[in-house]
Amino acid sequence: MNVPNIKLADGMEMPQLGLGLYQVHDQKALKLAVKTAIKAGYRLFDSAQAYGNEAILAEALKESKVKRSEVFITTKIAVSNFGYNKTISTTQQSLKKLQTEYIDLMLLHFPVTLLRKKSWQALEKLKKDGLLKSIGVSNYTIRHLEEIKDYASEMPVVNQVELHVFLQQPELIEYCNKENIQVEAYSPLARASAMDDPIVKAIAKKYSKSYAQIMLRFLIQLGLIVIPKSVTPKRIEDNINIFDFKLSNEDMKLLKGLDRNYRTCWNPTLVP
Ligand SMILES: NC(=O)c1ccc[n+]([C@@H]2O[C@H](COP(=O)([O-])OP(=O)(O)OC[C@H]3O[C@@H](n4cnc5c(N)ncnc54)[C@H](OP(=O)(O)O)[C@@H]3O)[C@@H](O)[C@H]2O)c1
Repeated sequence: MNVPNIKLADGMEMPQLGLGLYQVHDQKALKLAVKTAIKAGYRLFDSAQAYGNEAILAEALKESKVKRSEVFITTKIAVSNFGYNKTISTTQQSLKKLQTEYIDLMLLHFPVTLLRKKSWQALEKLKKDGLLKSIGVSNYTIRHLEEIKDYASEMPVVNQVELHVFLQQPELIEYCNKENIQVEAYSPLARASAMDDPIVKAIAKKYSKSYAQIMLRFLIQLGLIVIPKSVTPKRIEDNINIFDFKLSNEDMKLLKGLDRNYRTCWNPTLVP
């Protein structure tokens, strides 16, 4: 399955769908997941320093024999590595672990109070030096994004946030669209914790697609990047098989009605 690319504000292209790697530590499981994903057409892989799997991802990609230029690697500065110097040194470590000369997209993992400004400035420097192709943030609210304008020489091109049918954050999407910041939806399946909604079930039946495929397709049609995680080969294949159908406007409307501010991950809204 061919995944469309999205053009970021800095001119770089990023696949609209990728494989999430949170809590995938087991070497065998990760290698099988990456191998299956590559074969199915995935080219975007979402890692993080905090996930502890950058080195295994590099091994898995090497074994898959796909060219470096054909994959898009995202990783993130861990909360414990914030600050100017630490962001610089820890990026060097990520590059080593990932066995690569550049990272396609580096994100600040969370809007860490007091330290996020210095970390952002470090990312700008690393980008200037050619070690990072694109730079962005994660878990930033509108307030955090507005604040960056005070000190940034360039704005983030991606904001990776929790976003799914049950947590739609329409104001944040509208703001990011206006500011040319691409929204990337993490936990797009709400961590498989709400797989019994009768409306999603009925829509899945109507299109002969799975519950998960409807959840993902909804986000694709909103123009978002999605990074579902799975270590199950059949699910990895199903999750990318969403570019051969289109939800009607009425069904999109029904799905929009399911927003209930249901958060499954950390909540940045109160972070000063
Ligand atoms: N920036 C951040 O702060 C942040 C936070 C959270 C996540 N993320 C990123 O976003 C990625 C995705 O989020 P997530 O891992 O939290 O949750 P998710 O992708 O919403 O859900 C993953 C769960 O859904 C199951 N699953 C996957 N495909 C399925 C299918 N077709 N049918 C039924 N169940 C399915 C998986 O099980 P199996 O694996 O057992 O198949 C796993 O339990 C992460 O891996 C990570 O890369 C970023």
